[in-house]
Amino acid sequence: MKPLGKLRLGVNIDHVATVRNARGSQWPEPLRAALLAEAAGADGITAHLREDRRHIRDADIEALVAGIGIPLNFECAATAEMHAIALRHHPHAICVVPEKRSERTTEGGLDVAGDEARLRDFIAPLRAAGTRVSMFIAHDRRQIAAAARIGAAVVELHTGLYSDLHADGNSAAAEAELTALRKGAALAHSLGLEVHAGHGLTYDNVAPIAAIPEVMELNIGHFLIGEAIFVGLEDAILEMRRRMDQARPQDGH
Ligand code: PXP
Repeated sequence: MKPLGKLRLGVNIDHVATVRNARGSQWPEPLRAALLAEAAGADGITAHLREDRRHIRDADIEALVAGIGIPLNFECAATAEMHAIALRHHPHAICVVPEKRSERTTEGGLDVAGDEARLRDFIAPLRAAGTRVSMFIAHDRRQIAAAARIGAAVVELHTGLYSDLHADGNSAAAEAELTALRKGAALAHSLGLEVHAGHGLTYDNVAPIAAIPEVMELNIGHFLIGEAIFVGLEDAILEMRRRMDQARPQDGH
């Protein structure tokens, strides 16, 4: 199957804020990173306003909404507080993620199937305001079907396990996980959902994910911000873009 369209790159700038917050200063500024990412050809900026504000803060979201010229993908948990913030800013997109305070990063997918009624109510006003709502889920049939039922426009498939298995050199298990991600992407597409993917993606593991024909967007953060320390953010993004494009040779639009 040919890719469904050009693969977009969303750059997650959370960890610019992590570095800033480590010193309690104003630098480095997430907005500056977002503008550099935009100049380097990123298709969108992703920022996760966690309930504990450990990296991105409310003022960062305001600055991003006012300052960037590409779409903002606002990541948040499905709480009343985040709902109000999202409605106030109405970003281009919202990605709903599970959140546990004790976790270092978003560890698993959202349990959409177990929380359908509440998530349907969470989505409806955002949809009505014109925001594209995405559910960050595992490649599980039940979760994908539930996301379609509650009216999500997009699912973002969690690539964290694939990335961990790849990093551990467990190639058989990584391949099995890839197969499951491919099946999940095909199912989601068949149910009318746009498919995104992200978590743990690096130069070395991005190609097979970029090659999944139904996947339309990758959201990548931690690796790019780390790589930027060595080569600068622009070069890190350009190299990721190159690898994504190379993995999708027939991208015709
Ligand atoms: N997509 C979602 C929904 C996420 O929660 C994250 C991490 O914040 C990412 C993508 C990016 O993951 P990483 O920082 O590992 O590239």
